[in-house]
Amino acid sequence: MTVKERDPVTGEIPAEPYAQSNANAGANPYESARLAASFGGREGIARIAARTVDLSQADPRIAAIFAAHDMVRLKRTLSEQFCYLLNAGCDYTGRDMKTAHPDMGVTRGDMNALVENLQAAMREANVPFAAQNRLLAKLAPMSRDVIER
Ligand code: HEM
Repeated sequence: MTVKERDPVTGEIPAEPYAQSNANAGANPYESARLAASFGGREGIARIAARTVDLSQADPRIAAIFAAHDMVRLKRTLSEQFCYLLNAGCDYTGRDMKTAHPDMGVTRGDMNALVENLQAAMREANVPFAAQNRLLAKLAPMSRDVIER
């Protein structure tokens, strides 16, 4: 594998080229734009996504899975995915869920750990419980494209 240099402006490691599309986000967005306000809008969503990544990277249960990946990019694309699904005015530019999690060996237990970290990030941001569950409901069916064993 060739080592790719980080983009000097964004700090991201370039991904392989692929067609960028909201169709990769894994679900259709909610129609109401009201839900996004419960997450603090686009900025609140970006903070929650970044916090979820930070908690997961520091979580001994799943830290190893994140070790060799580009966390700058993940924070951006995860935030875009949440923002798109919550109809907060973003487009998703990442890969589809199957392509983004190839051979990572993610288990159901790993998935639960990640969801706990997302819940903690949403709780810290005072997102109402019902709104938390609406985001989780969008993400839950995607787990079948991520879990491998
Ligand atoms: C339904 C559950 C999940 C969703 C919706 C999700 C969402 C995403 C998204 C949007 C990306 C970015 C793709 C891109 O930038 O092209 C991504 C990448 C990634 N995810 Fe997940 N994820 C889920 C579960 C998990 C779990 C359980 C783990 C590990 C415990 C995990 C580890 C990773 C890693 C390491 C990357 C970076 C891949 C790379 O840069 O090559 N994900 N995920």
